[in-house]
Amino acid sequence: RIAGPSGLVIFGVTGDLSRKKLMPAIYDLANRGLLPPGFALTGFARRDWADEDFGQVVYDAVKQYARTPFREEVWRQLSEGFRFVQGDFDDDEAFDHLRRTIADLDEKQGTHGNHAFYLSVPPKFFPLVVAQLKKHGLADPPHADSWRRAVIEKPFGRDLKTAVELNNIVDDVFPPTSVFRIDHYLGKETVQNILALRFANTMFEPLWNRSYVDHVQITMAEDIGIGGRAGYYDGIGAARDVIQNHLLQLLALTAMEEPLSFEAESLVAEKLKVLNSIKVPDDLAKHTVRAQYTGGWQGGEPVCGYLEEDGISASSRTDTYAAIKLEIENRRWAGVPFYLRTGKRLGRRVTEIAVVFQRAPHLPFDETATEELGQNALVIRVQPDEGMTVRFGSKVPGTAMEVRDVNMDFAYGESFTESSPEAYERLLLDVLLGDAPLFPRWEEVEASWKILDPIEQFWDKHGKPDTYVSGTWGPRSADEMLARDGRSWRRP
Ligand code: BG6
Repeated sequence: RIAGPSGLVIFGVTGDLSRKKLMPAIYDLANRGLLPPGFALTGFARRDWADEDFGQVVYDAVKQYARTPFREEVWRQLSEGFRFVQGDFDDDEAFDHLRRTIADLDEKQGTHGNHAFYLSVPPKFFPLVVAQLKKHGLADPPHADSWRRAVIEKPFGRDLKTAVELNNIVDDVFPPTSVFRIDHYLGKETVQNILALRFANTMFEPLWNRSYVDHVQITMAEDIGIGGRAGYYDGIGAARDVIQNHLLQLLALTAMEEPLSFEAESLVAEKLKVLNSIKVPDDLAKHTVRAQYTGGWQGGEPVCGYLEEDGISASSRTDTYAAIKLEIENRRWAGVPFYLRTGKRLGRRVTEIAVVFQRAPHLPFDETATEELGQNALVIRVQPDEGMTVRFGSKVPGTAMEVRDVNMDFAYGESFTESSPEAYERLLLDVLLGDAPLFPRWEEVEASWKILDPIEQFWDKHGKPDTYVSGTWGPRSADEMLARDGRSWRRP
């Protein structure tokens, strides 16, 4: 699958995402031979750069962050398609310049009128940039067999209302099939593997329901704090930042029915059924928790609390940790809780989906024989140690009958020689190919906000977040939340 003639324009090209993810991904795609000859990369930003300065920034980013080895000939060919357009987002002259640049690329690089516009900008600029693309005729393909696409980074709104407003604006300019909303979790190999695991095999699916599953835990833990992102993060918080998108997508993939095919339409249809049957608990005080990290230790270093971070007001109520219990009201899942949790500055960086099974209905052993027997679990290790673990009881070698939990592991690194492409590599290629399955549709975004809105509103009304010490596994209230259900969080 090699992209046809095309170019990518990045708005906000001086930002972190662009340097750490997008530029290296473009180079890696070129290096793997997946970009067309003449591919064009145009940066748009306020910085007073010439094309060469831009080229140097891309070069530095590639040297530092690309996954594949540096090859001079690939770089030389790729860099012929680099252009930079300087301007503010409200600067009409700059957008005219962009239009001329693109027309020139079509002629010199053979991009054939096919361009994707990547909005890697703070969300408050989304409407303006989209409006400018329309005003300057950039959103319309110049001829019938060419395309224009918009790639929109998260967050897509900060609640249902603002998401609807944004969607109306985008919808007015680009047809729905030309809009690619980024949820980079869907670009991860291990996330795509959820569907392979479930639907390419026979041995998991018969157990994948309320008759055998006790509950599901979806954890996205990070060891980092908010870094230099106070401006973005404060007022948004953990639930909006990652539950609304990444974690609900993981939940949808884990819980959905088999799709008719792997076409976008079929995937969306199944994911939507799950999202729309999610029940937000009535008693939100009991079934949700939000908290902020306080100072502590991480990786042997002292770290400050959230309220002491640069750019954060001492009275901020933003959540850096969130845990939520959800239920899915359908025949497969009725009564099976899905516990979602995420946090910054937790014990370590790990994302996993743990499907925890019910206890055996009867154990033909002495009580003492099964003291160390827990519940069976299938753990999809999304990152960083990509793979899967099946946890089950086994006889302890010896003369007595004693059963203890053991793990059976599958690790990507051991089973495959192929390396996983970075999520953004896969997603950027899909944008250029026009492949939509890995991009959430508007209806999914809408359904996700409908789940989160009442929870956020409840939190807004009910006092301050709890606290947890940096480097631990979150607030005590989150442990209590599960303990009330007779369960406990896994310590990954
Ligand atoms: C982003 C969030 O979407 O995902 C960040 O905005 C978070 O706050 C990041 O750190 C984590 O991504 P990954 O791929 O490292 O799990």
